[in-house]
Amino acid sequence: MGSKRVSIHGQWSSRWAFILAATGSAVGLGNIWKFPYITGENGGGAFVLVYLICIALIGIPIMMAEVMLGRRGRQSPVNTMEMLAVEAGHRPYWKWLGWLGVIAGFLILSYYSVIAGWALAYVFRTAFGVFTLATPDGVSSIFSDFIGAPEGLLFWHTLFMLMTMIVVARGVRGGLEKVVKFLMPGLFIMLVVLVGYAMNSGEFSRGLDFLFYPDFSKITRDGVLIAMGHAFFTLSLGMGAIMVYGSYLPSHASIARTSVMIALADTLVALMAGMVIFPVVFANNLEPGVGPGLIFQTLPLAFGHMPGGVFFGTLFFILLTFAAWSSSISLIEPAVACLVENRGVSRIHAAVTMGILCWLFGLLTVFSFNIWADFAPLGMFEHFEGKTLFDLLDYLTSNIMLPLGGLLIAIFAAWIMKCEASRDELELGEGFAYMSWRFLVRYITPIAVMIVFLRAIEVI
Ligand code: PFF
Repeated sequence: MGSKRVSIHGQWSSRWAFILAATGSAVGLGNIWKFPYITGENGGGAFVLVYLICIALIGIPIMMAEVMLGRRGRQSPVNTMEMLAVEAGHRPYWKWLGWLGVIAGFLILSYYSVIAGWALAYVFRTAFGVFTLATPDGVSSIFSDFIGAPEGLLFWHTLFMLMTMIVVARGVRGGLEKVVKFLMPGLFIMLVVLVGYAMNSGEFSRGLDFLFYPDFSKITRDGVLIAMGHAFFTLSLGMGAIMVYGSYLPSHASIARTSVMIALADTLVALMAGMVIFPVVFANNLEPGVGPGLIFQTLPLAFGHMPGGVFFGTLFFILLTFAAWSSSISLIEPAVACLVENRGVSRIHAAVTMGILCWLFGLLTVFSFNIWADFAPLGMFEHFEGKTLFDLLDYLTSNIMLPLGGLLIAIFAAWIMKCEASRDELELGEGFAYMSWRFLVRYITPIAVMIVFLRAIEVI
């Protein structure tokens, strides 16, 4: 049986509630917006294969480690890490790992909210029939006009950040559990409908080929880093989001089974999104590597030409907004839990303060797509040539901060924490299951992350 501590922030009503909330955190823009466009930019199949390997060998073991640490500590990641380090007879400096996560979550939310605002705006565009019978050029120019005007982006970013603040202020159990219960199955059914449409679009097999046929000549060292970074991003790992959710998990739930289920659901959603987008890309002679606008330039075309497209399209963007919403909540939860514990402020106060700061920081992303579109702060380095502030924020958080956080979590769980403590909390017994987890987290994960890092900076 795991530790008997309780969290001051409350607890999930059941294991299912945790599964739903953690899946709500994992499934979001990462699966439907980001996975297709980075797959398109990095050449398809080989990239997808590396991503899948990272999910299995790095993602799932780290998710188990994070949930385990969270449930054992039952506090915000900062205090959990400090306490568990002291408990294992080490110095309290591990709390800085918690802080790294708080900062990563803050930075990610600042741009996540802007992109979620795009999805929100597209709910209305689709509902008003803007895309009905639109041409590829028409849809692309609607998108570029949209992101070219900062006022609009600012409006939707503000609205989305307000939505996030409201749910976070109400606490983990008020609302979130209920929303996710309907959202997840809804999103899944919508994707099944869309895959059905893509199957009849004429280029389904070309789309599948692009997604699943690995051509290793197309993947670069940086591509491998991006695939690994995305495995962390899509499963919400490396920054304490899953740790803080784990701290609200009842003591008797099986961490291993739960983690595998969440990872499978998340991966399925991403692959389905790819199976919808790429056939549409090829059927309309579009370019798979157009970048962050990919889904906003392809899906409206599909909706504009399918029967009932206004209805399905509107519903799809509503569900996408909800999926982003349940993820954004978990991005800011570590910071809010930490403020409540360490500063003694109320949840509402903490949520509003963090929301306002994050909103302000989000302006960098808003302007990256228009008035600062040509501003590449690190352009003097070849590697970062042409990268806007948004590109840099995304690169820094997904490809550096999250894998680094994950690496340190693995080291902590397998090298610092006592074997008995992790065995007790994971409840896997002493046999093969526990030993394989420990082997992965102790050796495979840290070595793999380190190799990918070193190769990306061309040291090896
Ligand atoms: N996993 C979310 C997505 O795929 O959209 C994004 C995310 C949420 C990343 C929470 C990190 C996190 F802690």
